[in-house]
Amino acid sequence: MAFENLLTTNEDGVFTITINRPDKLNALNKNTIAEIGVAVAQAVADGSVRVIILTGSGAKAFVAGADISEFSSFSEAEGMALAQHGHDVFNSIERSPKPVIAAINGFALGGGCELAMACHLRVAATNAKFGQPEVKLGLIPGYGGTQRLPMLIGRTKALELLMTADMIAAPEALALGLVNYVTEPDQLLPKCHEIAGKIKNQAPLAIAGIIRSVNAYYGDEPNSFGSEVKEFGKCFITEDFTEGTNAFLEKRQASFKGK
Ligand code: COA
Repeated sequence: MAFENLLTTNEDGVFTITINRPDKLNALNKNTIAEIGVAVAQAVADGSVRVIILTGSGAKAFVAGADISEFSSFSEAEGMALAQHGHDVFNSIERSPKPVIAAINGFALGGGCELAMACHLRVAATNAKFGQPEVKLGLIPGYGGTQRLPMLIGRTKALELLMTADMIAAPEALALGLVNYVTEPDQLLPKCHEIAGKIKNQAPLAIAGIIRSVNAYYGDEPNSFGSEVKEFGKCFITEDFTEGTNAFLEKRQASFKGK
């Protein structure tokens, strides 16, 4: 499917989504958010895809936030509807059974930082900058930032960043545990592909079980330890479990089918 604001590629098990509004620093208008939801659903439904990479086009920005020009005259109800739509799409990323890696190639502000935080892994280029500057606009984050930032870096620093609107650079994001790695800009996508390469050789249903179990801890299920018990049990009836254990015993590489 052709998108207005996204570019997508599907190569060797890796589906890459590039947000493509570089003249607006890839700001998320409503249509772009909807398209991200469609692209992620398309990647999840495609049996050839094992890992999803999400990035921004141009050298300057991953995403510089929600598109401010779109909501400047919104009512309370319109604001709530905008936030709910963002939550629905960002939750679909976090709940994707296929891992989503954010390749953060510049500014990740407001909705951009929230989009990166909805992904399972984050790799930042050295020029990346993170922040939740909504208070400067008289707003709070509306795409999960007040929830995921404290989950990822802890309440103390999250409250500071949310209330001061301070921007932090990639090394501080790494020190805070907001990102997994920092690379030179030209190594950003290669690093994401290196991580994707490790994941895509693992059993896909087990990867999906890990995502569901970790999400359970972060609010998806009231009894998250119980969720792990269920997910662990489900692995035993998969062909991939038989293949994985046989491969180990036969001292060969496993070939997983996601069944
Ligand atoms: N919404 C809409 N448009 C945005 C945008 C956003 N969040 N962020 C950047 N843009 C647009 C600018 O309006 C400008 O468009 P124009 O050329 O038509 O005027 C273009 O992207 C380039 O941005 P510019 O501000 O000229 O780049 P800069 O290098 O001087 O500054 C930023 C970069 C990221 C510091 C600055 O764009 C910024 O502060 N953006 C808003 C960040 C924000 O508050 N995000 C949270 C929104 S809830």
